[in-house]
Amino acid sequence: MAGLRRRLAPDTVVRAGEPMAAHTTLRVGGPAELYVEPASEADLAQVVRFCRDHTVPLLVLGRGSNLLVRDGGVRGVVVCLAHPGFGQIDVEPPRVCCGAGARLKHVAHAARQHGLAGMEFLEGIPGSVGGALRMNAGAMGSWIFEVVETVRVMDDAGRIAERPVTEIAVAYRECSLFRDHLALGAVLKGHPAPRAQIEQRMRAFAEKRWATQPAAPSAGCMFKNPAAIPAGRLIDELGLKGARMGGAMVSLEHGNFLVNTGAATAQDFLELMTLIQERARAERGIELELEVQIVGDD
Ligand code: EPU
Repeated sequence: MAGLRRRLAPDTVVRAGEPMAAHTTLRVGGPAELYVEPASEADLAQVVRFCRDHTVPLLVLGRGSNLLVRDGGVRGVVVCLAHPGFGQIDVEPPRVCCGAGARLKHVAHAARQHGLAGMEFLEGIPGSVGGALRMNAGAMGSWIFEVVETVRVMDDAGRIAERPVTEIAVAYRECSLFRDHLALGAVLKGHPAPRAQIEQRMRAFAEKRWATQPAAPSAGCMFKNPAAIPAGRLIDELGLKGARMGGAMVSLEHGNFLVNTGAATAQDFLELMTLIQERARAERGIELELEVQIVGDD
């Protein structure tokens, strides 16, 4: 900690033993050995180089909405781009330039404010721009890379580059660039449309979400949709809605959401996920692949 601390500006946050349950929407997970909120890209580069030079594992956290941290916590350094400097949103129609720490909800609202259509679906995704890029997050039949023009990334030497979307390979909930790069931000491109029309689309999306998805703490959909059948419908057909392991429960509203009923542990979620995968395999011959990222130690 001391070695890292002295390389960083005073306004960069460095904490030991930070509980990850406080940084994930599932509200479970043990502590991060070191937790850092860099105050600038320069400090982020210092952290990245420090981890590379000392072979310290580095995990970059978005809003923790697609993440299951095991109960033993995370070894090494966890970085969170929560400093306001990473959360900028600048609109120059038809483009929205946003930092990795910006919330998708705020990006969608900024686009609406300026009469830019195409980003309405981002409103209901409880994530940050960085996390959404990393996962190619999507909802309502769209995914974020459909509106990305360029991304700004950092490699493990702390070097920054701008990449046009045409050079980036993406797939459903997957973008391989971020296996070895960090997202710093993106330029998104919308198209002009009447504000009332944009508002109407956003409202329709929100209504669908409220009607079909639970409000209780969750990590969104746990499993990717297999080609044969949406995971939610499959879990529903298997009669698993309401199934519980400790404090973790399959949502009664949507089968692909596992919710924290209050006192769940990461182990509860892991056991419930395994049960669902085993039933899907045994009864339907379907391999359910995780969408949620699992990190940390048991
Ligand atoms: N269904 C059931 N029972 C259920 C849940 C769903 O029968 O318990 C049926 C629905 O009636 C529908 C079908 O399954 O016919 C698909 O359900 P839904 O429309 O809710 O969409 P989804 O495929 O389950 C996807 C994304 C969500 C996104 C929604 C809305 C995945 C894994 N999930 O869900 O994304 O919010 O569409 O666009 O791709 C996430 O990625 O974390 C996530 C929540």
